[in-house]
Order: sequence, then C-alpha cells, then structure tokens
Amino acid sequence: MAAPAPASTPARLVVLVSGSGTNLQALLDAIEADPSYGAGARVVAVGADRDGIAGLDRAVRAGLPTFVVRVRDYEDRAAWDLALAEATARYAPDLVVSAGFMKIVGKAFLAGFGGRIINTHPALLPSFPGAHGVRDALAYGAKVTGCTVHFVDDGVDTGPVIAQGVVEVRPDDTEDALHERIKDVERRLLVETVGRLARHGYRIEGRKVHVGE
Ligand code: GRF
Repeated sequence: MAAPAPASTPARLVVLVSGSGTNLQALLDAIEADPSYGAGARVVAVGADRDGIAGLDRAVRAGLPTFVVRVRDYEDRAAWDLALAEATARYAPDLVVSAGFMKIVGKAFLAGFGGRIINTHPALLPSFPGAHGVRDALAYGAKVTGCTVHFVDDGVDTGPVIAQGVVEVRPDDTEDALHERIKDVERRLLVETVGRLARHGYRIEGRKVHVGE
C-alpha cells in the first residue's frame, strides 16, 4: 500500500465520530491553540453514523460542517459504505481520521481513501482488536495495554501501525477507569501523530509507515 504525502497545506482532515468526540476535540484544540499545528492540518468537516451525539455538537460549536450517514437508512452495508464515501469525498480530504467511529468501512470507502484513513484504537494492536479492546484486555488479565494509531485496511484493526502509547492496568481497574486513562494518552498520541503525518508527509511500505523520509 503506497500513499502520497498530504496534498494540501494545511492538510484537509475529515473526522468521523460515533460518540463523545473527545479525540475530535483534542484535534480542534491543538489547531486552535497552536498556529504551527494549524498551519499543518485543519478539520474541514465531521461525519457520523448517528445523530444526537456529543461529537457532532462539538463540531457545530467549532463552526464546522457535519454529515450523518446512518446504516439503517440504506438497503445494505455496501450502499451505506458508498454513501459515506460520497459524503466524505465532498470535503476533498487529504486524511480521514476515524476517532471513535464505531463502524468498519467497506470497499467503496477504501477505494476512495485507502492509505489516507487513520484510526485510533484503545488497545495495543495486534492484541485486542474490535469493539471491546479495553474490556478484552482487562478480562484477559493484561498488565499493560494502551492505544494504537494505525492506517485502516480491509481488516478489523489490522492496518499498518503508526504510533502506540502504553498504559498500565491497575489491579482494581474497571473498564471505565482504564478507558479514561487510555483516552488521556490516546488524545495526545492522535494529535501528535496526525500533526506529524500532515506536516511531514509519509510513505506506507508493507507494514511500515515512514513519516517525513
Ligand atoms: C476512543 O477510546 C476510541 O479509541 C474508541 O472509542 C473512544 C472514542 O472516544 N474506539 P471519543 O468519542 O473520542 O471521546
């Protein structure tokens, strides 16, 4: 999988969300607070697979266009995927950031944006992929877990790893407490990683991601 460096300066980001959107907020805050960060990347739109979520409210508060593409409004998953790809393409993103977006994208989306879709996952991949990464690490008895920022391919959380952050599991941890500590690390990691990719460009060679080389 080869990928060009982001084509625009600042790089155009479309962020996809399904929930509270604190990772989205961290990106928006970094862009707002740090002019050198904002010179490298800007969010041009926020998309979601459902209405009524805090992530969309955050986008509206930031004055950003939003779009919602719900699975249940389409005949099947492929039609939904195509609609999501079309809605995203309207904003001509250089990078698509899946930040707590709880859907697996399909063929049409990958055809449009393959090698340019970044996902953040709350576990140290390849351990504990899927929708319950935090719960699964805790249930397994892992002593460390964390988060992974990776490119999206056609598997579930299987694409090339860009960056990872480590979080210790405490003996008395609950899923919520552990997830909150992971999200602290995750937000910083996502902001830093997206910033580096946007400013320096990157190449994907097999499973290796080379940033700014
Ligand atoms: C993150 O931990 C993400 O990895 C997971 O869901 C959480 C989303 O958090 N899939 P938020 O919506 O960005 O607050």
